[in-house]
Amino acid sequence: MQKADAEKLLAQARQGHIPQHVAVIMDGNGRWAAGKGLSRIKGHQAGAESIRRIITAARKLGLRYLTLYAFSTENWKRPQAEVSGLFRLMSKFLKKETADMLKNDIRLMTIGDLSRIPEGPRASLEESIRRTAECRSLTVLVALNYGARQEIAAACEKLLRSGLKDAPLQPEDIEKHLDTAGVPDPELMIRTSGEQRLSNFLLWQLSYAELYFTETLWPDFGDAHLYEAVMEFQKRERRFGGL
Ligand code: FPP
Repeated sequence: MQKADAEKLLAQARQGHIPQHVAVIMDGNGRWAAGKGLSRIKGHQAGAESIRRIITAARKLGLRYLTLYAFSTENWKRPQAEVSGLFRLMSKFLKKETADMLKNDIRLMTIGDLSRIPEGPRASLEESIRRTAECRSLTVLVALNYGARQEIAAACEKLLRSGLKDAPLQPEDIEKHLDTAGVPDPELMIRTSGEQRLSNFLLWQLSYAELYFTETLWPDFGDAHLYEAVMEFQKRERRFGGL
């Protein structure tokens, strides 16, 4: 898509309601690479470029929160070389992009259990989180070693350990202990590459989200695709169970 077309779509999208929070399952890096006869890690490299483009597009659009599913609790089953390649890529990305994030008032947060993330990449993450802690225009939440069922189970465990007394339990009691506590629920969830599943992603928080599936593979997903997804979201009528 030409730059001018993307700018036109951005202007159009900005005329409607902009969701506060968009969540993305970035899928299809491996297939993108295979289609070009490249290694899977090359696909992830191209996927990291897409992350950069989508963060810029989200900021231009005026999103407040963008959650990206980067590594699931199931992804440990991938070959060791791919797993370490992904974390190396993430560290490189953070080293390169944190200054730009600061300049553009973008805060980095994570959801998921970081305790299993290798020490080097974890230190890069913690540093970027600390440096961008005061930024507020856009918050990027990266889901790492994340699984929604694990998150909900951990929230229940924290509740139990806090000596829960006020029965009956309310949804808000659980919400307060989720990794996303204080972050509004996503209004729109995008999954790329033609798969139509939630794959243990934000099962609690996506209760009322609009779901948008596209055949586009993640490395091919650019600013114009995000604006198109938001315009599709704007066309849908959201009733939250009412009439
Ligand atoms: C999905 O494609 C790819 C991922 C879940 C990995 C995304 C992670 C990065 C691009 C690393 C950089 C991370 C950050 C936070 C900068 P897939 O491998 O499932 O593709 P396939 O389904 O076609 O095999």
